[in-house]
Amino acid sequence: MNPLDLSPEEFRHLAERAVQEAGEYLAGLDSRPTFPSTSGGQTTKIFSSQLPEQGMGARAFDAVAEIFAHSRPGNGRFFGYVFGSGEPVGAVADLVAGVLNQNVTAWRSAPAAVSIERTVIGWLGEALGCAGFSGSLCGGGSSANLMALAMAREAKAPANQRGTQPGVVYASEEVHMSVPKALALLGLGYGSLRTIATDERYRIKFDALSEAMEADARAGKRIVAVVGSAGTVNTGSIDPLAEMAELAQRHGAWFHVDGAYGALAALAVPEKFKGMERADSISLDPHKWLYQPVDCGCLLYRDPAAAQAAFAHSGDYTKVLSKDPIEGFAFFEESMELSRRFRALKVWLSLRYHGLEAFRRAIGRDLEHGQRLARRVAATPELEVLAPVELSAVCFRYTRGDDLNGLNAAILRRVIERGRVYLSNTTLRGKFALRACFVNHRTVESDVDAIIEEVLAAAGEVRASQKTHAS
Ligand SMILES: Cc1ncc(COP(=O)(O)O)c(C=O)c1O
Repeated sequence: MNPLDLSPEEFRHLAERAVQEAGEYLAGLDSRPTFPSTSGGQTTKIFSSQLPEQGMGARAFDAVAEIFAHSRPGNGRFFGYVFGSGEPVGAVADLVAGVLNQNVTAWRSAPAAVSIERTVIGWLGEALGCAGFSGSLCGGGSSANLMALAMAREAKAPANQRGTQPGVVYASEEVHMSVPKALALLGLGYGSLRTIATDERYRIKFDALSEAMEADARAGKRIVAVVGSAGTVNTGSIDPLAEMAELAQRHGAWFHVDGAYGALAALAVPEKFKGMERADSISLDPHKWLYQPVDCGCLLYRDPAAAQAAFAHSGDYTKVLSKDPIEGFAFFEESMELSRRFRALKVWLSLRYHGLEAFRRAIGRDLEHGQRLARRVAATPELEVLAPVELSAVCFRYTRGDDLNGLNAAILRRVIERGRVYLSNTTLRGKFALRACFVNHRTVESDVDAIIEEVLAAAGEVRASQKTHAS
């Protein structure tokens, strides 16, 4: 027998064991601390074993329990960053996708998978009010933003043949870091990004954007793109998308909407996203607000020809022979990747299993949780809200004492050590903020209330220890 072959019985045995452990993990998820009790030294010791020359068979899987024990669990009290909660139907779909091992390059390599991905793209566009958009799934919002800006560059300042020409791109100072990173990778450079100030709601100042574009146009600069945020990573603010679309059009610029965090909230509150449908391209992340297991990002675009202009660089070894529009379709002609995972399966099965309405309600609950926390913070004298809550990110801080930035950083560390809730942090106009972001289908109201209890308890402990040290 081939040494790498597994009999169907062995496969079933391993898979059943993995599914058993995964089921137990999910059953105990709620009782787990929000961060495992571990350290860098411990995880290195456990997981940096020697490269095994000889296999150990099914005993290799003994380590899975240790992996569960040393991982940060996605229970209902995880509110860090912008990270979806891992919907289990999607996890089962990932197992099936792994077994199928389809290479979703083109229809001829993966007929079912390509058709399903194209269906999912159609569904996502339709759900967001952008019916008719094309697109593809990718690793996440960063890849989607990079692809969008590559398309913008090729459309407005063609570079594929002759190399990069100078050009300018506009976004607010709250734009996600993946945008300047993409501009650097595309050879436009960090200097090509005009970061425009934001108003009291952390939305791009439209007049300032307009003036900057006029000035650049007068100076003869090549205007490449305007990037609007549909949910900034810090505060969930939504830029005035309709006005930005108009302005971009007036200047002949590409209009990209970074909706990696927020765009899927259009399922629940479409009125907040007016103008998104006028974009040339939109990034959105099913692994955030469609609760799918990573990785699953998505780029939607209006014009497939623009994607082909940027990405259709085929070798003879990939040449598609069919003239049929379906059977001749190749994702690699419209995206950065050649070999591609069957990401669409989790979205497809998850939507078929639960239905869109269930996701709409879950997103609606996340939005309510954001409002509930903001109300609770406002009603707590020791705390203050630091930014309006547009979607589900709530930035706030503890206000009693000196050096509030240092104090709140210490409070955050203590909150995480206590292990009941997990928050992350950001800085808003120089103020260190505690940040809770609800993109979690497991959260219930008592989990939201636990945030206040934990922050106050942690603040009490930090202040008590500061007093002890001072005396
Ligand atoms: C607004 C925004 N854009 C882009 C990204 C990057 O997405 P990803 O982490 O999937 O690459 C994020 C991540 O939080 C985000 O919030």
